[in-house]
Order: sequence, then structure tokens, then C-alpha cells
Amino acid sequence: MKKVRKAVFPVAGMGTRFLPATKASPKEMLPIVDKPLIQFAVEEAVAAGITDMVFVTGRSKRSIEDHFDKAYELESELAARGKDEMLEFVRNMIPKNINCIYIRQAEALGLGHAVLCAKPVIGDEPFAVLLADDLLDGQPPVMKQMTDTYDYYRCSVLGVQDVPRADTRSYGIVDARRVAERVEQVNAIVEKPKPEEAPSTLAVVGRYILTPRIFHHLENIKPGAGGEIQLTDGIASLLNEEQVLAYRYAGTRYDCGSKLGYLQATVVFGQRHPEVGADFDNYLKSLGA
Ligand code: G1P
Repeated sequence: MKKVRKAVFPVAGMGTRFLPATKASPKEMLPIVDKPLIQFAVEEAVAAGITDMVFVTGRSKRSIEDHFDKAYELESELAARGKDEMLEFVRNMIPKNINCIYIRQAEALGLGHAVLCAKPVIGDEPFAVLLADDLLDGQPPVMKQMTDTYDYYRCSVLGVQDVPRADTRSYGIVDARRVAERVEQVNAIVEKPKPEEAPSTLAVVGRYILTPRIFHHLENIKPGAGGEIQLTDGIASLLNEEQVLAYRYAGTRYDCGSKLGYLQATVVFGQRHPEVGADFDNYLKSLGA
């Protein structure tokens, strides 16, 4: 019985919604208070027992590689100045005992294409996909909830939540039937349907566990919505031969691909921050917030 040991992080997107901040640096490096979005996603994967992090990157994404690398100059500078406490902090700020693997997606041909780029390192194993701009705050962490679900049912699992009908055109939407608490069997899935055509309001968020059979389907589908190779279309094709489950995760999602979601996450994580949380909370109160 194979465990989920590998996670794919598609990070080649352009992040146009956050220009000019994302002109020269990746949107996944935008911090919530002091931690980049991509680190939240990696920590969530680590909490689920995942050890191999596969980043599908593009141009101007080098800072992501540097971020998960040893900060050699910084460490030796701090050591030379005797700043031991800070040195200890720098050494421990990135999860330990993980393997980071980088693959370049030369052209932005869609999320499905990005996942397909990871095929050579995933091989014949189930794997997770995490979209770092969906910041999921859950206890246990949402990917851990999903790997537990995978371990029980042994099939692909999609993280889902209900959204307002007017928003269906921003998501993959599933038609599903309840099988257990939080767990539904997916009958159909469609990428970004118009509200009047959406089969339901149950939306896929940026968390997936997929069986390796998905690669076969991604290799054979045609470009879909927006002229891109869509992961959703690959999953729709996978449904012809395998069971796929939707999992209503426990937790809160911040859509950090949008400015409003990003600000909401910043406020909530700011209020909770061990160093500045109390002062920030007082500040918000002084504003009457
Ligand atoms: C992608 C997927 C979509 C999914 C969404 C979750 O869309 O294509 O099916 O619901 O992520 O955030 P994107 O937000 O990249 O347009």
C-alpha cells in the first residue's frame, strides 16, 4: 500500500493580479506577515508526512529555490558577528529532512500541463498537489486530513468547499453524492462553469491527491477553458476508469490569489502572530475594526 510521499507545487504562474509586486518576484513568495505563501504550503505538506517537494517553476522563480536552500552567506555573517540566537532561528526556519526538486515548465500551458511536467519524478505513486495561493488554515492541517482520507479509501481525493453560485466561474465544480461525513463521490467535474450551468456549488480548492493514472489522462486531453491543459479536464477523464472523491475539508481558506483574500489572511495571521499579534489587535481595535 503506497503512502503519499510526494507533493507537486505548480509555481510557474505569472501572478498578474499582484503587479507590480510580482513583476520581478514570484507571487508564491508574497509573505503573510513574515512567512511566504509557498512555505505555508510546504509546511502543510510536511505535516501530512510528505517528504519530497516537487516545484514546477518558470522564469523569475529563482527566489523559491533560494528560499528552501541553506542561506550560506547569511549564516556565516551571523556566525561571524556572534548572533547565535538569530543564527539558530535562520537554521531552523525551513522544514528539515525534505527533498526539494525543481522542474521547469517552459511554457505556461495550464495547471494540468504543470502537473504533467512532474511525471518523471512522481513515477508510479499517488501524490499531492498544493496551490500555494490557496492558504488553508485547518487543525489538523488540511493536507493531513486528505492523506488520512486517501489512506482509507485509496483513490484520488479533491479538497472542496461550497461557494456562492455567482462564483462558480472561478473554480472547478463537482457533481457529487455524499458517502460519509465530509466525503462525497464525484460523478462529474467541470472547469469554471457559468453559474447557470454549474452542476452544483461545490468547488475544488487548491488541494488534490491524485493517483499516477492521472498522467495518462493529462497526456491525452485537449486544451480546455482558456485554451489551457486543465487539471480539471484530466480528472474528468480519470473518472471514466477510477473512483474520485471530494473531501469537504475542516478549516478556513484564504484566497491569496486575490487582494481581498490576501488582506484577510494578513489580518488574521497578524492578530495571531506571537511577536506582534497583541499590539496589532489593539491597533485594529483603535481603528474601531
Ligand atoms: C485552479 C483550478 C480550479 C480550482 C482553483 C482553486 O484555477 O483550475 O479548478 O478550482 O485553481 O483555487 P485558478 O485559480 O488557477 O484559475
